[in-house]
Amino acid sequence: MKTIILLGAPGAGKGTIAEGIRNESVFIHVSTGDMLREAVKNGTVVGRQAEGFMKRGELVPDDVIVGIVGERLDRGARDLAYMFDGFPRTLEQARLLDETLSRYASKVDKVFLLDAPRELLMARLTGRRVCRKCGQSYHVINIPPKKTGVCDLCGGELYQRADDSEATILNRLEVYSKQTESLISYYEKKGVLVRIDSARQRQDTVAEILAIAKPLIAT
Ligand code: AP5
Repeated sequence: MKTIILLGAPGAGKGTIAEGIRNESVFIHVSTGDMLREAVKNGTVVGRQAEGFMKRGELVPDDVIVGIVGERLDRGARDLAYMFDGFPRTLEQARLLDETLSRYASKVDKVFLLDAPRELLMARLTGRRVCRKCGQSYHVINIPPKKTGVCDLCGGELYQRADDSEATILNRLEVYSKQTESLISYYEKKGVLVRIDSARQRQDTVAEILAIAKPLIAT
């Protein structure tokens, strides 16, 4: 089993870059944010536990997150390649991921830290629109749909995420620096962290990551 992680602040482009990598490799995309939004939409127990935290831009408790990720890994075959987006987000989650992977005689292979300046993060998040039907993400200026408010792929309605208001974005950025940034040194010490400039065109960022991630599959 191979594991890569996309780490970065809200709006750094984790979801966008993950989509590019998924389309050109065998990495299976696991986004805890997407899993939680689906759970909220379906009104499941996890969804009810997570909803309030997400609306406020706070982290969902570690036990809920570790539960859904553990379930996802247990369902998959051992020889797959995983790409985590938005997970882990705390030291506790990172340690529990290490423990889980060690049960499969595996480890985190690479962590790509997507780096972009704060003003860019804000502009990306306030302009993001997402398809209600298929989840495709757009940006009103950077990556606009062909027809305003309509998904190019499935014709679904585009909406603004509940946590993409300016006040909630500010809180999410604060939560990132208080609770998630410590993962940078955690993975740096393990020698698996790679810093990536994600203020560029998305295809350049995707290409740089693929050049490092694809050879992992062959080993
Ligand atoms: P999550 O969904 O993971 O949100 P996030 O980390 O805040 O990240 P975003 O999805 O907002 O940003 P992104 O980096 O993916 O950027 P994107 O590619 O969309 O989590 C949401 C919530 O769920 C959390 O707040 C928390 O409550 C909970 N949660 C999730 N995981 C958790 C965990 N492990 N533990 C605890 N709680 C958890 O890009 C943003 C915009 O920019 C888009 O419009 C895009 O089109 C545009 N864009 C991106 N890249 C480019 C580019 N290169 N050029 C031009 N435009 C670009």
